[in-house]
Parts: sequence; structure tokens; C-alpha cells
Amino acid sequence: MCGIVAVIGSREAAPLLLEGLRQLEYRGYDSAGLATVQAPLEAPASGDQGAPGQLTCLRAEGKLVNLTARFDAVGAPGHCGIGHTRWATHGKPEERNAHPHLDGSGQVAVVQNGIIENYRSLREQLQAEGVVFRSDTDTEVIPHLLARQLASLQDQGRVASGSLLLEAVQLVLPQLQGAYALAVVWAAVPGGLVVARRQAPLLIGLGEGEFLCASDTPALAGFTRTILPLEDGEVALLTPLGIELYNGAGVRQQRNPSLLTGTEHVADKRSFRHFMHKEIHEQSETAALWVARHLPELGSDTGGGNPAGSSLVALPLDEAVFEGVERIQILACGTSRHAALVGAYLLEQLAGIPASVFYASEFRYAPPPLGPHTLTIGVTQSGETADTLAALLMEQERRLLVADPAYAPKLLGITNRPESSLGRLVPHILDIGAGIEVGVAATKTFLAQLLAFYGLALAFAERRGGGVHGPAKLRSLVAALRLLPAQLQQLVIDHDQRCADLAHLFTDTQDVIFLGRGINYPIALEGALKLKEISYIHAEGYPAGEMKHGPIALLDARVPVVSIAMPGLVFEKVLSNAQEAKARDAQLIGVAPQGPDTDLFDTLLPVPEIDELLSPLLTVIPMQLLSYHIAAHRGLDVDQPRNLAKSVTVE
Ligand code: M6R
Repeated sequence: MCGIVAVIGSREAAPLLLEGLRQLEYRGYDSAGLATVQAPLEAPASGDQGAPGQLTCLRAEGKLVNLTARFDAVGAPGHCGIGHTRWATHGKPEERNAHPHLDGSGQVAVVQNGIIENYRSLREQLQAEGVVFRSDTDTEVIPHLLARQLASLQDQGRVASGSLLLEAVQLVLPQLQGAYALAVVWAAVPGGLVVARRQAPLLIGLGEGEFLCASDTPALAGFTRTILPLEDGEVALLTPLGIELYNGAGVRQQRNPSLLTGTEHVADKRSFRHFMHKEIHEQSETAALWVARHLPELGSDTGGGNPAGSSLVALPLDEAVFEGVERIQILACGTSRHAALVGAYLLEQLAGIPASVFYASEFRYAPPPLGPHTLTIGVTQSGETADTLAALLMEQERRLLVADPAYAPKLLGITNRPESSLGRLVPHILDIGAGIEVGVAATKTFLAQLLAFYGLALAFAERRGGGVHGPAKLRSLVAALRLLPAQLQQLVIDHDQRCADLAHLFTDTQDVIFLGRGINYPIALEGALKLKEISYIHAEGYPAGEMKHGPIALLDARVPVVSIAMPGLVFEKVLSNAQEAKARDAQLIGVAPQGPDTDLFDTLLPVPEIDELLSPLLTVIPMQLLSYHIAAHRGLDVDQPRNLAKSVTVE
């Protein structure tokens, strides 16, 4: 949550900070701010011994455009600066709670991403010593602590310098509990800034004539492709001349930077009004890329359609991931958890491996008893979700305490950002390769996560003699998956206008129920989540058979029911459940194939017949488009819905 950016070099800092923040705005957009330090004319361009400078701090409530307008009006000179885009945790989204936060004299400025868990006791301690606080945030304790530390060092005869700022930060950090990343400037040192991370992402970018630092790669990609990710606990001093990097114990570190690959730059919207709409339309490309990468071309047929020795699905994973696995547990949040629920269904019903899904935030504090030969999968598109990372770390640590090798940790991550914190935490990564997703509501990354699970379940099933249904079934599923990109393309085109027309019916709607069963129950959950987060309409996803046990009491003519009914194991059951809703006057919207069985629906969003096991890949499309058009029709900020952020890096 929140994005931080810092820059020092030969150019004016503020425009670079604003551009970096623009790329990080997906992390939070409650408020934004920046602080720059301008050197006096005679100051040397070095981190040490510079003459004191002038600190300018600009902050604005709301989106980045408000900060940009303020900068355009008053400016913020200097070649050194820090910036922040906020997702409020402690303190309302008001200007006084916006970062940077300053010490009492306005000489030290700090931006922070994360939570300082012991801020209350630190605040009380500082208040008892006479410090006046101007915000409700946890972060404000840091500039006050730093100002006191710097004063104490200067009282000992130490001269203001970048090294002194570094030392003060190193002395203050042990007093802070929690997971955070921060950046600090000090008016006394116009030629240096300090950054630090503890369990929150931070990367340094090595540009031409400048050094940058940011929470995520998109903020750096426009300036440089040479990056140095900070390791946990590290602190760095950045000056126009270089980087000094130290580990948590204060030992100087030397590490080679790496090169950014991929298209981390946030793409434009093309002709679409919103990124979300564009990303929904990109899903056929996402699927085509997945098919090209992971479904190997079959050579000359040996009779079974799969040449001896080859694999139906090619995943870039060590064989060790598959060996000896007796059970699978999956940890995730939000949409990633819904993909995990489909994944667990496939791993059980296709590959025959017991699989369970946990909310990462719950698992952490109530993990199930340890079982042997367990594969733990963390699913997070951003690779930065604090709950998921913490749950994985906890699982790894508790397993390392067990001497029996059957309980050894085996961790796999499924992510869209292999370079993320997840990538550094777990030894095995499955990259879903969806390309950057800007809309806060996940769409194409959900489809890509589903595909990753289809790949994984097929790979496990293939290694187990065909799994539950045998090799012929696996071959037919793979053949059907090859047709998916074309089907998706058509489906998105077909439903775009249909859902736009339907959106008008939802003008006064306050509640919507989504029903699904079996492998499509998670799609009902996903449909409800999409609608909630971007349209602010209350929505619930239920297993269709569960309605009669209570929720059916909610139904009347004002509550539309969206029911997913795909031919297969539970088709007739879902249709009966839909009839039960219709008998209570609910407006029925069906996501189902066209035909006599489905004429009970008041409105049909037709989906072609497909093997039930593959149906979530299609049924999710009308869900996404319906939510999108309802929110767009209401004139809401689809890409940046209120109270949300793309990457949830606080617990
Ligand atoms: O980056 P992650 O996949 O770990 O994010 C998990 C959730 O925060 C995320 O899926 C959230 O629910 C989305 N806004 C859903 O659209």
C-alpha cells in the first residue's frame, strides 16, 4: 500500500518525482506529496559537508493531479527529493495526514509505506518530551525521532553530512516495529537522501546522472533499466555520486545491479475509456500467450496424440516441485483466492490431490496442523500482498523447525511479478505473464492465474498416470484449451454491448446475488467481488444450493440474481436453484449456453458449451463486463475505486 519514490542527481527532482508517483498511483490515491531540498548555489554536489539547503514540502488531498496542480502553482526546487502516494491506514485521507511528514522544525522529511506498529507508545513518549504532532499517522513519529537523533549527534560535535543522516536512520530503525519502507531527506544535506526497507518492497534505479528509488519497477522503468532491489533490513545512502548500501547489522554491502526485463512501463489506455475495459479485452491475448508458452506443439502423432516422452503441458518448474506431493495448501487474498479455489477444485477433481485454500490473513494466525509431503502455493498477482507473504514466511519457518524431512517446506509462488518480494521469498515461481495490469479490479491477471492452475493440475495429473479421469481426458482438455483464445475474443466482443445495455437496468439496484456451484462457485464469488469493488453495489456470491438455508430471505423483485449454469455435473441442480429464486420474483440473469433448458432466465448472457472443468475460463467474462459497464454507467472511477489500492502491502 502507498507508493514511495526518491531521486537525487543532476536534474530538478520534483518533475521526476511526479512522474514516478504517476506510475505508482495504483498503490494508493487518497493523497500525495513530495519534499525537495534545494542546495545553496555554492554547495558541492556531494553527500558530505554540503552547506544547508532549503526544504520545500507540498501535499494535497486526493489524486495526484491535485499535487501536480499545487506544484505547477508554487514549484518545489532542488535536485534531491522524496514523494509519496497514499492509501490511508492511520488517519483519514486528509491533507494533514498526507506524506511527507516533517519534524517540528521542518528540516527532516519522511515518506513511508507500511505500518509502524508501535507508533502509539513512541508518540506518547515523544509527546511527554514536548513534541507536538500535526497528523494522526503512524509515520510522523519517524521525523521527530530522527530530528532528535540528529540533534544528539550534532551535540557530540558531528558535522551535518549524508553519512550523519545515514547513521541517524540506522540508530532510529531499531526503535520501529512493523513492516515498512521509507525515504528521508534533511534540509542540512541537500546532496544526500537515505532509504530503508523492512518487509516492504524498495528498489534503487541507477539512471544517467541520477539515482532513484521506488516501491515498484514501473516508477523506475521510465528512467533506467538498471536496478538494485534492496534486501530486507537494508539501508542506503544515495548521493549524486553513488550508493552506499548497508545491511541491518550496519555492514557495507556490495552487489551488482540487475536489468529490468519486460514492459514494466504502465501502458496507455489505447482507445478505451478505462484500463479495466482494455484489460478485459486483452484476455484473448493473455490466453494466446499462455497457450504458445505452455502447450507444446504436438509432433508426429504416435496414436495417442502425445508423442512418447513429451509433455502435454510445459511449465518452467523444477521436477522437485511435483515429486512426492501428497497434499496441497494454497494461500491467497481477494481475487487471487478465487483463482485458488478453482485451482484447488482442479487439483482435487482432475489430479486427485487433496487441496485446500486459505485466506492468507487467517492462515497466519490459525494455521492447520502440519501435514507431511505438503506443497504450499502462494498466489498473488502483485507478489507484494503483505498477508500472503507473511503467511508463506510463517509456513516456511514452522516447517524448518521440524527435523523429519517429510515436513520440509516446499513453496511455490504464482504471480504476475516474478521480480517482486514473493519472487525473493519462495524458491519456485510460476510467472502468469499477463503484463502489467493497471485497473485496481483484477481481470486479465485472474484469467492468467486460472490458466496457471490449469497448467499445474494438468502437469500433476499427467505425472500421476492421467489423474482422476485418465490420459484421454487430459488430451481432450488440452485440445479445448488451444481453442480458448479465439473463444475469448468472440465472447468479449459479443458481451460488451450486451452488458452495456443491461447496465441501465441496475441504475437503482442496491443488492445483487451471484450463484454458482462446483467449479463455478468461485466465479460467483469473483462476480460479486468485481461488482462490489467498482460499482459500490452490495453483492454476494453463494453456492446456489446454499440459498435455501437462509439467504433466499433476501430475494424480491428488487434483487437481481446472476446465476451461472454450465452443462455438467451440477447443471440441473443450478437450474432448479434458479427456479427457486424466480419463484421469489427475483430478476434472473443467466450465464449459460443458449437452449431450451435455459429459457427460464429473464436475461441470458450466453456462453458457449465447453467441458465443465474449463467453463470458469468463459463464465468469468460476462461477470467482468457486467460489473465494468454498471460502474461506468454510474460514472464511477472504475480504475481507481474508492478506498482500494492495487497492491495491499499492509497487514
Ligand atoms: O496482488 P494480489 O493478487 O495478492 O492481491 C490480492 C487482492 O488484494 C486483490 O485480488 C484484490 O482483491 C483485487 N482488487 C481484486 O480485484
